[in-house]
Amino acid sequence: MANLNVNICGVQFKNPVIAASGTYGFGKEFEEVYDISVIGGVSTKGTTMEPRLGNPVPRIAEGSSVILNAVGLQNPGVEHFIEEDLPFLKEKGVVIIANVAGSTLDDYKHICRRLNGLVDMIELNISCPNVHAGGMALGIKPQNIREVTKITKAELSKTPLIVKLSPNVESIPVNAKAAEEGGADCISLVNTFTGMAIDLERRRPVIANNTGGVSGAGIKPIALRMVYEAAHAVRIPVIGMGGIMTGRDALEFMCAGASAVQVGTANFTDSLAMPRIIKEMNDWLDAHGIADVNRIVNTLKLN
Ligand SMILES: Cc1cc2nc3c(=O)[nH]c(=O)nc-3n(C[C@H](O)[C@H](O)[C@H](O)COP(=O)(O)O)c2cc1C
Repeated sequence: MANLNVNICGVQFKNPVIAASGTYGFGKEFEEVYDISVIGGVSTKGTTMEPRLGNPVPRIAEGSSVILNAVGLQNPGVEHFIEEDLPFLKEKGVVIIANVAGSTLDDYKHICRRLNGLVDMIELNISCPNVHAGGMALGIKPQNIREVTKITKAELSKTPLIVKLSPNVESIPVNAKAAEEGGADCISLVNTFTGMAIDLERRRPVIANNTGGVSGAGIKPIALRMVYEAAHAVRIPVIGMGGIMTGRDALEFMCAGASAVQVGTANFTDSLAMPRIIKEMNDWLDAHGIADVNRIVNTLKLN
């Protein structure tokens, strides 16, 4: 058995495999399939101050090796999360990462103030449209990333801050540095790539929102490159994700510089994906005589 413990910003994880936001709810559905205390952590569904119903249906389209979604941040709101979901997650002993979202800087500030000290880490989803910036996501321009990071960090005296980067940007290294300069303790990436699926007979987009976010196995090579770029641009830890389906995929992200990984779409195609990935990582490390998963981090040598 290799050591799978990792420590990120002083938070101890029993293994580096975290459920990605929006693909695991608040963990309760998966508890019906396996004991979720075996995974390293859960990044919750993107949570906003007030409950949100999300976008009209259809919200999901399937492609070959990818899915497209426009769920639109459907969630029960932060107070419901604190009362109904947090106690269950605490009981399970997994690292609890609250993924938070909003439409304005004030939204982000207030939700971080409310969650300070209640969860193990906060992950800012800055890819949602900012109504004050004409619908442009806060996570696209470096100066906006610096600002939202600074404002939220000021509210988080007790909880480390992860800034989750969008891949739909000009430069990942520039945006990763902007988050670091704003005071982020950690960066995670990638969120979904903006895409479209078309129903040719109807000459219409498949999903009601017209465009959506692309995730799943097909995005892995692009996500890996972006994680590598981010990890080499900043000194703070990086959590990598995008198309991880196997233990080998997870270890590739760690080799590229990630200290831990998140697993998203794989949870839809295989409800046992996360425990399987953890076992596959351990088996690979054992087979290669590596006693500690931390030894694989940032070991990529370029040709
Ligand atoms: C249905 C669905 C809902 C998602 N909801 C959120 C969300 O609320 N907040 C967020 O930061 N990312 C959200 N994501 C993005 C994932 O957390 C992850 O960044 C992305 O799917 C890439 O990983 P994957 O290829 O392993 O799925 C969502 C993804 C999917 C597929």
